[in-house]
Amino acid sequence: MARRSSRACAAMATAAVFALLAATATATASGLVRLEHPAKSDGSLSLLVVGDWGRKGTYNQSRVAEQMGKVGEKLNIDFVISTGDNFYEDGLTGVDDQAFEESFTDIYTAKSLQKPWYLVLGNHDYRGDVLAQLSPVLRKIDQRFICMRSFIVNTEIVDFFFIDTTPFQLKYWNRPKDHHYDWRGVAPRQKYIANLLKDMDVAMKKSTAKWKIAVGHHTMRSVSDHGDTKELLQLLLPVLKVNGIDFYINGHDHCLEHISSRDSPIQYFTSGGGSKAWRGVLQPNSDKLQFFYDGQGFMSLQINQDQADFIFYDVSGNILYKWSKSKPNYLQPSTYITEA
Ligand SMILES: *[C@@H]1O[C@H](CO)[C@@H](O)[C@H](O)[C@H]1NC(C)=O
Repeated sequence: MARRSSRACAAMATAAVFALLAATATATASGLVRLEHPAKSDGSLSLLVVGDWGRKGTYNQSRVAEQMGKVGEKLNIDFVISTGDNFYEDGLTGVDDQAFEESFTDIYTAKSLQKPWYLVLGNHDYRGDVLAQLSPVLRKIDQRFICMRSFIVNTEIVDFFFIDTTPFQLKYWNRPKDHHYDWRGVAPRQKYIANLLKDMDVAMKKSTAKWKIAVGHHTMRSVSDHGDTKELLQLLLPVLKVNGIDFYINGHDHCLEHISSRDSPIQYFTSGGGSKAWRGVLQPNSDKLQFFYDGQGFMSLQINQDQADFIFYDVSGNILYKWSKSKPNYLQPSTYITEA
């Protein structure tokens, strides 16, 4: 098992970080991949989160991208997280689909965004050739694109648990309407979900990072168009709760939201404003709505041992909302316990 990389790696050039990623990627027996991405030398980490974006620049995608570039520069970001629905309407047709360049490479052109992008799949991605979107061949076209079904990124202070949420939602299986979902490697649903939850639970239990963040495409709690995803509340939330996950970050609803759970410390953040937005729907739920913005934008997260700072921005780069959580300091080496 690869040992933790030294802090000095944080100072390495981007190319070297990519090489490092490749060298330290390890997988559990069932295929859950773990990547290491060292924090900055001062132990902090900054990143941007965007979701629901791939529309060849339209619906303000390019404006959001431009502001992400500026904020990314200012915060000296380490990487970008995509909460899925990377390519509309129906994912990629293959590894040679021009949409990959037209919606990704040619849009997120700022220097500060030339960092690894960790991406999950959304339901729209599942309507295309999923194996193409997951293919490492895409990295030959644009080396930033690190898209996997479910995986872990270990940054020393934070463990990020990326979760493939589309297979959870029953209606895509039972009532696909005229859409075709690419379930290769996923069906049968129940077995896939059971294995995924078991692997996540084991990985979360082994994690001793100070912060634990789960990322998925679908909403857990949302006051917008799609609302809550009841399969995730039933099946995934208990695993997050029992393992002390601090934040769940998602897209799917095309807006920006912060909701606090009333019965656990978990905070829900929706960053799904990467392109088409303005649904005009607001349906309160029983959790505590802290912030809701129906338009386009994105989120930043700056985090160190003691504090996590979240900020939402609109298409002009205006700060819409800020929220911080601090954790009392306790000294614990944030190593990831590896299997014998
Ligand atoms: C682009 O953003 C502006 C400012 O928020 C908004 O007024 C406009 O409706 C947006 N355009 C689209 C197509 O959503």
